[in-house]
Amino acid sequence: MTGHPETPGLDRLLARIDDAPLGPRAEERGTVSAIADGLASISGLPGAELNEIIVFESGARGFVLTLEEDQLHAAFLDPMVGIAAGDGVTRTGLLVSVPVGEEILGRVLDPLGRPLDEKPPLQTAETLPAERPAPAIIDRDFVSEPVETAVLVVDALFAIGHGQRELIIGERQTGKTSLAVDTIINQAGRDVICVYVAIGQRMTTVRRVIEAVRQRGDAGRTVFVVGEATAEPGLQWLAPFAATSMAEWFRDRGHKVLIVYDDLTKHAATHRELSLLSRQPPGREAYPGDIFYLHARLLERSAKLSRALGGGSLTALPIAEIEAGNLSAYIPTNLISISDGQIVTSQSLFAANQRPAVDVGLSVSRVGGKAQWGAMKAVAGRLRLDYAQFLEMKMFARFGGFGDKAMARRMARGDRIAALLAQPRFRPVALLTQIALLTALNEGLLDTVETDRIEALKPALAPLLEAEPRLDGLRADPGTLTDDQRAALLGVVRSALQTP
Ligand SMILES: Nc1ncnc2c1ncn2[C@@H]1O[C@H](COP(=O)(O)OP(=O)(O)OP(=O)(O)O)[C@@H](O)[C@H]1O
Ligand SMILES: [Mg+2]
Repeated sequence: MTGHPETPGLDRLLARIDDAPLGPRAEERGTVSAIADGLASISGLPGAELNEIIVFESGARGFVLTLEEDQLHAAFLDPMVGIAAGDGVTRTGLLVSVPVGEEILGRVLDPLGRPLDEKPPLQTAETLPAERPAPAIIDRDFVSEPVETAVLVVDALFAIGHGQRELIIGERQTGKTSLAVDTIINQAGRDVICVYVAIGQRMTTVRRVIEAVRQRGDAGRTVFVVGEATAEPGLQWLAPFAATSMAEWFRDRGHKVLIVYDDLTKHAATHRELSLLSRQPPGREAYPGDIFYLHARLLERSAKLSRALGGGSLTALPIAEIEAGNLSAYIPTNLISISDGQIVTSQSLFAANQRPAVDVGLSVSRVGGKAQWGAMKAVAGRLRLDYAQFLEMKMFARFGGFGDKAMARRMARGDRIAALLAQPRFRPVALLTQIALLTALNEGLLDTVETDRIEALKPALAPLLEAEPRLDGLRADPGTLTDDQRAALLGVVRSALQTP
């Protein structure tokens, strides 16, 4: 080919003509048979696969949600304006994928990785399908290291291990999101990458979360994936899966990753809506039969990977909403059965100003205890029992006073426990402070301290503990608590109590 130095564009054009394939091209072409809110029924694409992206005549994209013998249902990823029955549809042969890589850190993205922040579009070298298989049993390791949430009630009573799935479940406006977001914020400086997925929430609510992390946490190590309430149902449906793939990219490179799904009740509702529109047979509470499988395959992707696979982990904090305290509704029971424990927040505790409003009796962490630091385990052992007894006694105390001195002592202890477990938002309590407070509680050091003072004691302790050389060993390895360290902790608490 001759060169055209003065018109380089022409060269490129000629090269493209040379490369263009000639002759007929085989292409499957389907037809829209019906459309409904966010969903299209399509006939004539027999080769289409689940999760494959298809393109409508208008240029809008969708992905295959369900396959039937003679038709398929696709959820829209773009607005469905201008699409009508009879329109043509073509396959792309591509599965729904998301951009992955370091570039996504610090970003606010939609479930396809399109920016929702003021920054430019992503240019990542890699993408991953939104749906990926969970790691096999042989590729997993035991959960062995705690996520330090810096929320005392969680770290002491319901420790969460890296690689665990701990459900946060409760009525509306009981602090579910706050608990998860405080945990994300408290990962700053701890080498944990966080992913927050918003599903079906209003953008104003999501913005508040993003602002809180930007102001107080390490937003540069956090990714926000948002399928907001007004987004296409298909995008909302996709959000948790897409975000999990983004998280897995880091997990598979040896990182510790924490993902928050806020919330899966709304995700279940979107799934139900799309299923009913595609005429899947409704089951219990009108949810389709595959709702259990949907969330099981999502949460199974959280895992602690074996050393051979780099030892990374993906920890999941799915959030679920319940009505009128009913933990035995369909979606809650499903989610409880596919996670490794639940933190239950309660309306009555919240109203009684116990915040975080964690119901200690109903909450449990089924694997976290194994991951809890030895030193913490040593001092938190009796806490739950003491507190449960206190709550019971308090109920009876309403019917009359206690003459018994031993009872009065236990009540005093219980009040101190309640004060320790209470924690305002954005006030992290570091591990060493937690251990010091619980040691002091067990020794009865706090029994005479006014409960109002306990909140102030938490921040006051931190610098004193930091300055105590006898605690260097504990700081480096909280795996055990020696007698000398215990004495040092008590010494620090005593001196903190003496300064007015
Ligand atoms: N530990 C806390 N101390 C004080 N206030 C808190 C605490 N936790 C949450 N709150 C307040 O309670 C309110 C509800 O919290 P949050 O939005 O986290 O609840 P939610 O259960 O996620 O609500 P929704 O059901 O609307 O999603 C917020 O105003 C929040 O600031
Ligand atoms: Mg919330």
